[in-house]
Amino acid sequence: MSTFELIAQDIEEYCEEHSTPESGLLYRLNRQTHLETLNPRMASGQLQGLFLSFVSRMMRPKYILEIGTFTGYSAICLSEGLIPDGELHTIEINVEYEDRIRSYFAQAERRDQLHLHIGDAHTLLTTLNHCWDLVFIDADKEDYTDYYEAIVPKVKKGGFLLADNTLWNGKVTHEVSHNDKDTLAINDFNKHVQEDPRVRNLLLPFRDGIMMIEKL
Ligand SMILES: C[S@@+](CC[C@H](N)C(=O)[O-])C[C@H]1O[C@@H](n2cnc3c(N)ncnc32)[C@H](O)[C@@H]1O
Repeated sequence: MSTFELIAQDIEEYCEEHSTPESGLLYRLNRQTHLETLNPRMASGQLQGLFLSFVSRMMRPKYILEIGTFTGYSAICLSEGLIPDGELHTIEINVEYEDRIRSYFAQAERRDQLHLHIGDAHTLLTTLNHCWDLVFIDADKEDYTDYYEAIVPKVKKGGFLLADNTLWNGKVTHEVSHNDKDTLAINDFNKHVQEDPRVRNLLLPFRDGIMMIEKL
């Protein structure tokens, strides 16, 4: 296994071969992300994208929030289950991604339901006041707990939050150096959720770990 993979590469490839292939749009987006960005592995990719799409299509949400758009792969997947008058709001701090995100959103089936907000999630979160059905937290790891605390009151009962990278390359199970702020933050976040009586949670060992959280 490589350092990033929690499942063996041959198993992952087998799963990819036996899962619905990416649409042409997602294929092009993923390819451009790999050609033109420094850290393309940040994008969800086929399997996680399908997972997000399945969750969304099983829930049929009205309001979806995403923190951390990157090039827009996960946002397009999450949008696939939106009801006709539903909205997906996604926040990205890096203005350099904006044109690429907008050009792919413009080609997406749910283009009119996709709302991109460029800026810092800490600030923008206070301006978005929908009652969220589904939330995907996938930005700076050090702030996961702050995002969670800001968002949980705005999630409807029975709504779901998904937080990506909660196994952090397996580092959460090792002794953590005090300099390793991301691993410390992910550990704190996982503990925080585990001890929160407002929710039911499952730390799913899929890709880099997805904490699935249901608001009770
Ligand atoms: C892991 S990537 C998101 C990947 C994307 N969700 C996907 O699955 O395709 C994390 C993104 O969060 C953005 N980000 C980091 N800090 C942020 C902040 N404070 N507010 C908004 N976005 C932030 C980064 O610029 C980066 O594009």
